[in-house]
Amino acid sequence: MSEIQVRPARVDDAKPILTLVNELALKQVMLPRSPASVIENIRDFLVAEVDGKLAGCGALAITWTDLAEIRSLAVAPAEQKRGVGRALVDALVADAERLGLPRLFAFTYVPGFFTRVGFEICQHEDLPHKVFNDCRHCPKFLACDEIAMTRVIDAEASPAHLFGKPQRAIPLPQRTPSFRAPSLAPTPAEPPPEAADPIGPSDGTAYQN
Ligand SMILES: CC(C)(COP(=O)(O)OP(=O)(O)OC[C@H]1O[C@@H](n2cnc3c(N)ncnc32)[C@H](O)[C@@H]1OP(=O)(O)O)[C@@H](O)C(=O)NCCC(=O)NCCS
Repeated sequence: MSEIQVRPARVDDAKPILTLVNELALKQVMLPRSPASVIENIRDFLVAEVDGKLAGCGALAITWTDLAEIRSLAVAPAEQKRGVGRALVDALVADAERLGLPRLFAFTYVPGFFTRVGFEICQHEDLPHKVFNDCRHCPKFLACDEIAMTRVIDAEASPAHLFGKPQRAIPLPQRTPSFRAPSLAPTPAEPPPEAADPIGPSDGTAYQN
C-alpha cells in the first residue's frame, strides 16, 4: 500500500488545492474557494501526498482562542476511502494541539466520516463565534443544510482563562423566514466589472473565506 505523507502547504500548492476543492464543490459536496482566499491563507493548509502526488488537502482556520475550524478538507476521488482524510484530520488535530486550541469544529455534509475521526454532531447555535463571524454573511444563512460537528481536544481548558468570549459589536440577527441579512457596504452607483477568475466558478456561487 502507498504511503501517505502530510506536510504544510507551499504557495505552489495553491493551484492544485483550488482545482481539487473547486472540482468537488461543483458536485455540491463542499464550498468553493477563491484563489485569493487559498493563497492568503496558505499557511492554514496541509496537503497529503501519495507517491509524491497531491491526494488531498485540509485547512485549520483559527476562530478564537478556544476554537478552530477544519475547512476545505478534500481528498481526490481516486484516493478516497484509503485513509487520506483521516491522515489529514490527525495532522490538523496535532497542529491544533501545538497551538493550544482546545476545540475544533466543522460544517459538513459527511457526518459519517467526521464521526469516524472523533467528531460529534452539535447545534449551529453551539458555535456563536462562527455564526456571528461568517454565517451571517452566507447566502445559506436562513436555510443552512450543513451539519455542525465538534471535537474536544482538551476538555480541561477553560476558554474564559484563555481570552474570554469575543465581543459582539451588534447583536446576532435572529434566523427567521423573513430575515434579510443587512448589507453593511454602501450600494455602489455602478457595479464593478466582474473580475476574471481563472479557477473558481463564475456562476455567482459564494466562496468560503
Ligand atoms: C470526506 C472525505 C474527506 C473523506 O476522506 P477519505 O480519505 O475518503 O476518508 P478515510 O479513508 O480517511 O476514512 C476514514 C474513515 O471514515 C470512513 N468514511 C470515509 N468517508 C465516509 C463517508 N462519506 N461516510 C461515512 N464514513 C466515511 C471510512 O470508511 C473510514 O472508516 P474506518 O474508521 O472504519 O476506517 C472525502 O471523501 C472527500 O474529500 N469528500 C468530498 C469532499 C468533502 O465532503 N469534504 C468534507 C468537507 S467538510
